[in-house]
Parts: sequence; structure tokens; C-alpha cells
Amino acid sequence: MNDTPRKILVTSALPYANGPIHIGHLVEYIQTDIWVRFQKMRGNQCIYCCADDAHGTPIMLRARLEGIEPEQLIARVAEEHQADFSAFRVGFDNYHSTHSEENKVCATTIYEHNRDSGHIARREITQAYDPVEKMFLPDRFIKGTCPKCGAEDQYGDNCEVCGASYSPAELINPVSAVSGAKPEERKSDHYFFKLADFEEILQSWTKGGHLQAEVSNKLDEWFETGLQEWDISRDAPYFGFEIPDHPGKYFYVWLDAPIGYMASFRNLCDKTEDLDFDAFWKPDADTELYHFIGKDIIYFHALFWPAMLHGAGFRTPSAIFAHGFLTVDGKKMSKSRGTFIKASTYLDHLNPEYLRYYFAAKLSSGVDDIDLNLKDFAQRVNSDLVGKVVNIASRCAGFIKKRFDGRLADSLSEQALFDEFITTGHAIAEHYEKREFGHAVRAIMGLADKANQYIDEKQPWVIAKEEGKDQELHDICSMGINLFRVLIGYLSPILPGTAEKSEAFLQVEPLTWARLATPLTGHQITKFKPLMTRVDEKQIDAMLEHSKEDLKEEGAKQTPEPAQAAGPLAENPIADTIEFDDFAKLDLRIAKIVEANPVEGADKLLQLTLDIGGETRNVFAGIKSAYRPEDLQGRLTVMVANLAPRKMRFGLSEGMVLAAGPGGKDLFILNPDEGAQPGMKVK
Ligand code: MSP
Ligand code: ZN
Repeated sequence: MNDTPRKILVTSALPYANGPIHIGHLVEYIQTDIWVRFQKMRGNQCIYCCADDAHGTPIMLRARLEGIEPEQLIARVAEEHQADFSAFRVGFDNYHSTHSEENKVCATTIYEHNRDSGHIARREITQAYDPVEKMFLPDRFIKGTCPKCGAEDQYGDNCEVCGASYSPAELINPVSAVSGAKPEERKSDHYFFKLADFEEILQSWTKGGHLQAEVSNKLDEWFETGLQEWDISRDAPYFGFEIPDHPGKYFYVWLDAPIGYMASFRNLCDKTEDLDFDAFWKPDADTELYHFIGKDIIYFHALFWPAMLHGAGFRTPSAIFAHGFLTVDGKKMSKSRGTFIKASTYLDHLNPEYLRYYFAAKLSSGVDDIDLNLKDFAQRVNSDLVGKVVNIASRCAGFIKKRFDGRLADSLSEQALFDEFITTGHAIAEHYEKREFGHAVRAIMGLADKANQYIDEKQPWVIAKEEGKDQELHDICSMGINLFRVLIGYLSPILPGTAEKSEAFLQVEPLTWARLATPLTGHQITKFKPLMTRVDEKQIDAMLEHSKEDLKEEGAKQTPEPAQAAGPLAENPIADTIEFDDFAKLDLRIAKIVEANPVEGADKLLQLTLDIGGETRNVFAGIKSAYRPEDLQGRLTVMVANLAPRKMRFGLSEGMVLAAGPGGKDLFILNPDEGAQPGMKVK
């Protein structure tokens, strides 16, 4: 092992703050965490930083949909994300947000340095614009009919049915996915990062051993196509940082996202003594910097990011480690099959250590997709972890406790076997270092087989019944416990929870690689408690069912709230007509507002209790900007009584109140004449 500890800064990609962590994400965070824990165990200084990626149009719109401010959304999601990560024991040294002061400062610095060196250009571009929402539309917020195959309701950049790629302008009958309006073309000034200025340094960097072979081959294709200028600005309304000196223009989310790595580290430095920011970011730094990412975001990390850093006078990454995508039972994760599994849903049914182990067993240093085969998952966890590893301890611990007062023998009876375990550790460490976790797992399980063989041959349960064989029994069981300890040590980057429990059982300090070579002799251990239970297939089935339920809730959340439907309607040219039969389907009733209350966490919503003649309904209405709750009590309005109930984050909404107006304060609730009675049909 090396004498001078390495100084390493490691990151995982920053998850978007508009959705929950799912098991696909976990491939990456678990992979990174295993590597980081391994480095720490080796005695290196290894710092693991991450953050939420909090900016951009989807987050702005998501907040709007929920009737809250983006800041409220990202604060809530930050908590959810961190709760999930900590349950899976992803041990960040720091978790921050791209919507932070540190990130604003870092992004400004990087932008200004590049600008002052002439790497930023300004150009006018034409883009789709939503005249109702008064915003430019990213491609994925435009929908329409595919120009190639005629499939309806396809996104603005590619068709999910025939796979064709096109520009949003080619879509037939395009509409804004935000308001449903027909997009217009509008011009606007944008700022561009001149990537081609960096062609030479990128060519040498990408071939300089910083990338996996598959990745650098992919980059060759991109170099051949030519490096395009990168549009780094977006127009208001946008949730992000305003560009210095350009009011109304914001940094595109992908500009400040990777800078979030740096900002998270800065934030950590500010709270930690002896941690020097420059030592990790100055151009000639002798520290190491690694980014773990998914293969979908290579372009940003292997081209834009090193170029931006270089242009601003910072160091470039030591390496980018890309991984493949998760499939479940050989297919893309799917909401309808229940395989789009949220981290929190998984945790309701299964032990996180199982998934960490399974992913480790499947992970390599390459970018191939990895498959979670649910049958194989159960079998592997049960046979390897429960059947092999934990079993070694449970076969020996009882005798040590009962017959030897919990004390291990004073010397090792089979030094050669122990030495073999330690020697194999060199290869295992090598596998971890190279991110060949599957190989590491195989080597460790090979040793576990050996340990079990040893116990099978020695048959302590037989010896235990024989007279005068105490010493032999003590030796065998002490040997078994020692082999178990080494195995758990090797597995501890993968199974930190089980390692912790084992350390408590063995009554030892946290296992480091160096400590493993010294066996435990004449040492007191404590009572053995089962370290892990078997996976039951029923738990897996229950998890899949639960995931399908999650989907239904999610679906309900996607429907815009009444505020959005009602808000901009007045300026909206009446588009499609409906047939009389459609109209006749609406069951409009006079409703009396018996109660109106604000909704915690929603800026635009009121909760209304409506009386429609003997029946009460709970309805959430986006009219808070126009009415104080107390002014509404006792008033009459018109509601759509036969609208299917919708589950919202705040509760069930059982209908919709009709309101009209341009929005904000000018939103009018109908107030029918006297004589109207709750429940009356509106004709
Ligand atoms: N916010 C960007 C990253 C910015 S980094 C400066 C982003 N976020 S993400 O939430 O979509 O994804 C976070 C990471 O999880 C990415 O590296 C992505 O590749 C990875 N994965 C997301 N879904 C995944 C699978 N289904 N399988 C494996 N990894 C997956 O991208
Ligand atoms: Zn198509």
C-alpha cells in the first residue's frame, strides 16, 4: 500500500431537484460510494461532494404545477433526496445545491474569465415561443405529430414511436406542452460558449488517459462532426442565475450544474479547517479529481466542462468515469410494469444492503448497461450474503460465546489459510481501484467458499460433542471468526451497514485495509445477532405493486391545477371546438362555499368545502390570488360536479370550481343571483 495518502475529490452527477431518486440513479451513487469508501479504507483522503441540480425550466414549471415557489420545491426535494441517500448509506462528505451563493460566485467567475478571454459570443436566434405563458419553449416542451410517421403527441426533438430526430419546427400541428397554445417563432439574443476555441486542448485531453476507451472513441465522432458553439443563455422567465450585466438573461442550467461540484466543495471548505480549495482546483494541482456520471451526460462532462475549466484557469478532471443505464428484467424501467422503482418505495420493502451488493456484483469499469434481474437478485443475495458470508459467523459464534465466554483463541491455528485471505486482498483492492466491482465480489465469494469448506471439513458441531476436544473447537471457531472478519472487511465498501453491525459483534474499530492483516486473537467478542435476513420474493412482488401505485399518484400530480387552466384563458384565442355532446357531459351545479381555507405549502390554492345540495365536496381551487378565504364563505358558485376526483399532493380534489379572468387578482368566481339553491343544475 502506498505510504503517502492520496488526496482525492470525487463527485457523482447532481440529481435534478424536480423528482425523486429512483433505483436507476442509485447505480451511480452506489458505485461512487463504494469507490469512495474503498479509498477511505485504504487510508487516502477522499472527499465525496454532491448537490441537487436545482435550476431550469422543468423545475420552474413543476413548482408552478404544484402552486409553490421553486425555492420551496427545491427545499423539499433536497430533504427527500438526502433522506433516500442516507438510507442507502451513500456517504457524501457534503451535499449542497446549485441554487446557492457559492455556486453563483463560482459560475460568475468561470463565465467572466471565459468572457474576458474572448470565448463567449452573442448571436440572435429564432426560437419557439409560447404566447400564452410568455416564455420560450425548450424542445421537449413542444409536442405535435411526428413529421416522419404521423404519430401524434410526440416531443419536439424526437419521435418515441419511429425514433426519428427532427427540429421542433418540423412537427405537424405543434402545441406548447405548457399551455396548449400554438407556438410562435420569436427572436432573441443568446450567449454562446465557443467550444471550438478549445479543440486542441480537448483533443489532447480526451486522448490523455482521462476517459474510458469507449468514451474517447465516442468523442472522436463528435470531433469529426465539428465542435459547435454552445448556447449557454436562456430568457426570462427562468429559474437560475441571471448573467452578469445582461438583465433578463439567465445561465442555462447545464452551465452552472457542473460548477455545482466546485461550489459544493467550496461550501465544505468554508466549514472545514485544513481543507484548501485551491489545492484541489488550481491548474497544477497534485490532487486528484474524479466525476462519476451516466453515459447520457458525457458530452457535458468530457467536452464543455474541461473546456470551461481550462478557459477560466482551473485544473481539468483527472478522469471521468461513465457507467451504463439500469434495466430491470432486461427492459427499460417502466412505470406500468412497476419497475420504475423509487428509492423510497424500495426502502419500504427491502434492505438497501441487498441492492448495494447486487449492483456491485454487476458493475464493471465499462459503460455497458446493467440489468437488475429480480429473480437473480433474490437468489444471489440469499446464496452469497446470507448463505455464505453471514453463515460463517453464525456457525462459529455460538460456540465461542457458550463454551469460551466469548473469547477468541490466543493464536491462529491455520496461519496459511489466513495468509491466503490476506494475499488475495491485493487483487481485490486492485479490482476496487479499477472499479471492477464485479471481479472484486467474485474474488471475495471465492474466499467465502473456502471459509465454508474449512468449517465443513472441521465439523465443529461434531467436535463440540466429543470429550477433550475443547482446544480444537476453540481453534476452529476462532479461525472461522477471523476469516469472517477479513471477508466483511473486504465487503465493507459495498455493505457498510452489515460491516457496522459486524464491527459491533466483533467489538473492533472500523475495519481498515491495513488492520485486516492482523488477526484477532485472545479477543473478546459479543453475542451474535443475525446480520441479515433472506430476501423473500413476496417482498419483491409487493414492491412492484407499490410502484404501480406510485405511478397513479404521479399521474394525478402531472395534471395542471385549476389555477393554470383558469389563469391565462382570457388572452387565449379559442382553439379547438367541442361537440354539443361533449358539452352535455358536463354536470354543472350551483355550489355553496361552506368553508374556504388556505393550503399549507401552496401559494395559489384554496381548499373549499362545497355544498351541492346534501352532498359536500372537497375541492382545491387556484383562486387564492383573487380571494381571501373569509370573503368566500357563504357565497355561491358554479362547479363541475362530475369531474373525476384527482389525488393532489394536498388531498383529494372532487370537482372544479369555474372561475374566469386573466389571472392574479382579476380572477372572478361566478356569483349567481339570489334564488339559486345548492345542487341546482346549471343550464
Ligand atoms: N442534473 C443532471 C446532471 C448534472 S451533473 C453536473 C442529470 N440529473 S439526473 O437526475 O437526470 O441524473 C443523475 C445521474 O443519474 C446521471 O448521471 C444519470 O446518468 C444517472 N441516471 C439516471 N437514470 C439512470 C438509469 N436509469 N440508470 C443509470 N443511471 C441513471 O442528469
Ligand atoms: Zn415518428
